[in-house]
Amino acid sequence: MNRIQKTINYYNWGGRFLTDPYHLRVQKLNEQEGLKSPKRFDIINYVLDSLKRPTTYLEIGVRNPNDNFNKILATTKYSVDPGIEFAENPVDFKVTSDAFFDGVRNGTFLDVSVRFDVIFIDGLHLAEQVDRDIANALEFLKDDGFVVLHDCNPPTEWHAREEHNYTISPAGQQWNGTTWKGFLKLRYAENVSSCCIDTDWGVGIISKNKNLGSKPSVQNPFYEFKVLDNNRKDQLNLLTFEEFKDKI
Ligand SMILES: C[S@@+](CC[C@H](N)C(=O)[O-])C[C@H]1O[C@@H](n2cnc3c(N)ncnc32)[C@H](O)[C@@H]1O
Repeated sequence: MNRIQKTINYYNWGGRFLTDPYHLRVQKLNEQEGLKSPKRFDIINYVLDSLKRPTTYLEIGVRNPNDNFNKILATTKYSVDPGIEFAENPVDFKVTSDAFFDGVRNGTFLDVSVRFDVIFIDGLHLAEQVDRDIANALEFLKDDGFVVLHDCNPPTEWHAREEHNYTISPAGQQWNGTTWKGFLKLRYAENVSSCCIDTDWGVGIISKNKNLGSKPSVQNPFYEFKVLDNNRKDQLNLLTFEEFKDKI
């Protein structure tokens, strides 16, 4: 092998992935997060069960329903997904979340009086969309219901990248997007309480009538990842599942 070929091999992506400290650290964090439990469906089923009545569940962003939707134990379930990531897309409403909520508002989908016990937001993981999904979900949530959000606690800024398809980042296929920013914005709001369970990439919970803990005391007006990273407990109200159970 000549010198030029050796240099090319040394700098090829595979070689870098094996030795680059960022890639190695992020791989470890990926493995650690994957091992955490409970999973999002355990938490959703727990909050549904806590209501002690027949329940109505809505999932925004479903992909393969076997991963979460089919595991949910609610009396009535509705699913929304425009079908971007899973060709079969076996959902009730094959539209974006914005189109779905508009349709509920004007009576095209479901009855205008419908109110949900639990709404799981796991659609487009970009802050502006998450912000709208939260506002819409709160409008159609029962007063004692829960909004649950996936991907609120990205382990690194590579997980919190805006571009989903850039898979040679140290986070590889893992993508939490900028959901955390939409969730953090909500955390400063006056009329709701929120926390994030430290498992399965951060399971955010929002309640209109339960006290789930303190609002952030550290300001993060520019939504800097470093501020989140250095103050996760404060920014997200990061709780264990056991701590969360004591609050509801
Ligand atoms: C992370 S996957 C959902 C995973 C699933 N909830 C689970 O727990 O396994 C995100 C899904 O959101 C869908 N999606 C993308 N943009 C959307 C939008 N604007 N409204 C609703 N869903 C959207 C994608 O098609 C994809 O299936």
